[in-house]
Amino acid sequence: MHWINFPLLVIMIYSGLRIYRAEQVYAFGLFGWEWFKFFPAGFNDTLELNRRLARGLAFHLNFAWLFTLNGAAYAIYLWRTGEWRGLVPSRRHLGDVVLVVLHDLHLRKEAPPARGTYNEAQRLTYSLVIGLGALAILSGFAIFKPTQLGWLTWALGGYTSARVIHFTVTVLFSLFFVVHVLQVIRAGPRKFMGMINGYELAPKPAGGTAEAGDG
Ligand code: HEM
Repeated sequence: MHWINFPLLVIMIYSGLRIYRAEQVYAFGLFGWEWFKFFPAGFNDTLELNRRLARGLAFHLNFAWLFTLNGAAYAIYLWRTGEWRGLVPSRRHLGDVVLVVLHDLHLRKEAPPARGTYNEAQRLTYSLVIGLGALAILSGFAIFKPTQLGWLTWALGGYTSARVIHFTVTVLFSLFFVVHVLQVIRAGPRKFMGMINGYELAPKPAGGTAEAGDG
């Protein structure tokens, strides 16, 4: 389920950007000065986002169902196997997040011990990302069916607010996506393969054969 997220996310982000290209409303500015516009012409040209609205919509709304089904399957899997316990950060250990970050920045020698497969920073990040996935689905349906799902659109603050949430989720997802892939590449080929096939080979013991370990 994890590796399906990679192509799915690429398709959702890319097709979403094709839709956004048709009406680029977001920019950062102050006192009438526009500092940054989502997105500069060079970005749209490089990614060939221009005049692709119909195809973008078709891809986006078809793959949205797959994204939703995959998300639901993952949620059921986490719940049924109890694996969610290994992902949720605990308030008691939240301070470890700072220590992990300091360690990763080489400002602290010792890393705090991981609880299970993931350390506290990973637990927090992965939980937030799962929350982002849920928000992408909720805000997506809120702007897809604002009449039939009026209560959902209302709960997200109305159509415009739901649209802003949907776009913000995309920006956060894109940032996570880039950092996550870079981290896995940096962690080496064993972790990279683990990301694709779901398990990781333990390092080869001296004179022995490699065994499957936690992934
Ligand atoms: C990770 C998943 C997703 C990402 C990254 C994503 C991204 C985007 C982006 C960037 C836009 C353009 C926003 C704008 O113009 O303001 C968009 C539009 C849209 N998305 Fe998504 N989306 C995701 C999932 C979904 C899902 C699950 C649905 C559910 C149906 C959905 C439905 C829509 C709709 C209806 C629009 C607006 C189309 C229009 O303006 O006519 N999206 N999405």
